[in-house]
Amino acid sequence: MMKKIILRDDQMPTQWYNVVPDLPNGLLPPLDPETKEPMGPEKLGAVFPMGLLEQEMSQERFIDIPDEVQEILKIWRPSPLVRARNLEKALGTKARIYFKNEGVSPVGSHKLNSAVAQAYYNAREGVKRLSTETGAGQWGSALSFATNKFNLDCKVYMVRVSFDQKPYRKSMMQTYGADIVSSPSEDTHIGRQIREEYPDTAGALGIAISEALEDAASRDDTKYALGSVLNHVILHQSIIGLEAKKQMEIAGDYPDVILGCCGGGSNFAGLAAPYLPDYLEGKKIRFVGVEPASCPSLTMGKLAYDFGDVAQMTPLLNMHTLGHDFIPPGIHAGGLRYHGMAPIVSAMVRENIIDPIRVHQLECFEAGVLFARTEGIIPAPETCHAIRGAIIEATRDKDEPKSILFNFSGHGLIDMASYDKYFSGELHNYDYPAEDIAKSLARLPKI
Ligand SMILES: Cc1ncc(COP(=O)(O)O)c(C=O)c1O
Repeated sequence: MMKKIILRDDQMPTQWYNVVPDLPNGLLPPLDPETKEPMGPEKLGAVFPMGLLEQEMSQERFIDIPDEVQEILKIWRPSPLVRARNLEKALGTKARIYFKNEGVSPVGSHKLNSAVAQAYYNAREGVKRLSTETGAGQWGSALSFATNKFNLDCKVYMVRVSFDQKPYRKSMMQTYGADIVSSPSEDTHIGRQIREEYPDTAGALGIAISEALEDAASRDDTKYALGSVLNHVILHQSIIGLEAKKQMEIAGDYPDVILGCCGGGSNFAGLAAPYLPDYLEGKKIRFVGVEPASCPSLTMGKLAYDFGDVAQMTPLLNMHTLGHDFIPPGIHAGGLRYHGMAPIVSAMVRENIIDPIRVHQLECFEAGVLFARTEGIIPAPETCHAIRGAIIEATRDKDEPKSILFNFSGHGLIDMASYDKYFSGELHNYDYPAEDIAKSLARLPKI
């Protein structure tokens, strides 16, 4: 009986899939906040290298993965596709549950897929140093690993609540040679301003992004790297879905439901996007994006132009948003605490291709514990959301023999403090008050 499917190194995809040209009704372009006109690569070139900007704007369906990037990806890729038979048995369901295990990367999550590519294109264009933000610490660890491979310096602004809760993420980034600071920090103008105004803030990804952008904009040797949301990140993550398609074929199965947790949307879109052409040709697939009830950008936010950060330094992106100055509560799924959502995922929701759902953190930890006790791997709190979604799908009608594929975006071995809090009853469910969302949505930029 098949438990897992492992591809050989030479079966790893050699091209990424770009979903943008296949999106029904396309994407609206990023806008320059000053002129409200579409923003071209000239202006964005101050913070991103041309190689990545070309990918950001590309209408090519397939883009070659450079050999240097492939070589590093092969340290852990192709990643396994696993049939969660023990979980199925525990649930008493006839559904077949598969997960793509991105937790096998050296830093423990899918984030490394894009970090390696981003470090490569920056190094190729002579950049010496990258600045970035990190929520849960997964992206910061990934970029620390990748910059080390390409001899770049790296500065990570880590959201304060995670910085305090996850000391070993910091150690990991230091091991790879990065410089880490708690955000909001004293190192940037915007950081100092927020610390003065809100001394007790838990921090937020939107704040850390502002700090990292200010850092990159103020130095000639530095560019900025973003771990989710943007088209080029989702391009790099498409390797997940491309591999999964081959593996599902070897398993002799095809997914009826595809799920992932949604923070900025990159792991979910990475798995789901390569299935879009099949869907458009008539294959019946249900795409389910799972978000936390405490930061519900897809289910309670608005599709609008908004900034990606608090200090309004990014271009305006057309995306599902809760408002750029929305500061989510310090729930433990740090990587899901973002006010916006990838324009690609937002467009797929707009076209009714993706069904978003929101779940509470206690049911997610419960799902994560069940997963650990059945399949053996302890999931990251973010990943617990995807598992909860898969369990909802698998138990809605236990006699329906459908096939469910979800993205296991990362392991939780460095998140055990969150599990401790769960076990000691310190975690609570939290619905973000609708009136607070309405207030921050009222401050959306006027287009
Ligand atoms: C393990 C894990 N899963 C999911 C996410 C959410 O990000 P995205 O929606 O871009 O995949 C994060 C972000 O930090 C993460 O660390």
